[in-house]
Amino acid sequence: MRILAIETSCDETSIAVVSRTDGLFTIDKNITSSQAKIHAQYGGVVPEVAAREHASWIFPLLKEVGVAHDGKEIDAIGVTAGPGLVPALRVGVEMAKTLAWAWHKPLVAVNHLEGHIYSVWLTSHRTTFPPHHLPTFPALCLLVSGGHTELILMRDHSQYELLGMTRDDAAGEAFDKVAKLLGLPYPGGPQISKAALEGDATAIDFPRPMIDSGDFDFSFAGLKTAVRVYVEGGKVERWKGVSKADVAASFQQAVVDTLVAKTLKAVEATNPASVILSGGVSANRLLRDTLKSRLDQQDSSITFHAPDLSLTGDNAAMIGAAGLMKAARGTFVDPLTLKADPNMRLA
Ligand code: KG4
Ligand code: ZN
Repeated sequence: MRILAIETSCDETSIAVVSRTDGLFTIDKNITSSQAKIHAQYGGVVPEVAAREHASWIFPLLKEVGVAHDGKEIDAIGVTAGPGLVPALRVGVEMAKTLAWAWHKPLVAVNHLEGHIYSVWLTSHRTTFPPHHLPTFPALCLLVSGGHTELILMRDHSQYELLGMTRDDAAGEAFDKVAKLLGLPYPGGPQISKAALEGDATAIDFPRPMIDSGDFDFSFAGLKTAVRVYVEGGKVERWKGVSKADVAASFQQAVVDTLVAKTLKAVEATNPASVILSGGVSANRLLRDTLKSRLDQQDSSITFHAPDLSLTGDNAAMIGAAGLMKAARGTFVDPLTLKADPNMRLA
């Protein structure tokens, strides 16, 4: 089965063609146009600007993907229906509805977070063989992006149980806001992790919020405020001997320690066969390496999966993978009535 997938939930316009044969995914095409440079001027994503950019890129990308005008080699259309920015989501959703209706193809509404989770199936397929290296169930997912920080238990394909989530800022959002405080451009995650390479992660003892809270929720707003207080006032004397790189490294360490500690507690509580790390923040090297090694120490029988670095950020291939799983179960939506849902829930 082959799906044409569309992603426009935030600031990347992306179209992909993904196939699934004998349970394995193949990315036939995956083309993404990023607007990050445009939004960098505003210090973050502006929804109306994002929508305008999606509208101007979506047809050129469709052409570049090279599907036939009648869509004859495509079996289904998949689209991110939420969560995300409504004006941005709508561009992709309306395009997908039009193609599904005109080509008489079934339409699948994909949750963006589900797409991030399925990015590891694409990766495992490409980098490991035989396929028993794919994640097995139950799988515990740590999903960390610009908009979400969630621990999710997957008992089977397309079955999600939310164990915990952030009560305020998402991990990626905290990276972006701290980068801004340090005068680094949007998106801040890659900038902070680059700056951190030169810094001392033990220089400042920032808080590890809710690390011992006894549940699986997160909170990053207080940590961001602690960095602000440190950088902007009161701590000028201490700030003198400390470089931006030290602040970046100490902040990054606080985020990673918190994410890893909570994930390992969830491992203890749920006894999964696999742990999946995904979402934009999964590009963070310290997070990937720390989670993998601490998991190995805790229980070496649990397999660890993180996406290929080319698939950590928003892309349509991951939406295609999640869409194919839903299509295989016959979970389709009506192309005449589908609506973008900014608060779409996974579980
Ligand atoms: O999944 P994603 O591309 O978009 C959303 O669905 O939100 O995630 C984007 C987030 C941004 O906040 C960005 O700063 C963060 O991922 N990010 C990182 C890194 N690369 C991207 N955060 C920490 N370290 C990185 N290397
Ligand atoms: Zn995302």
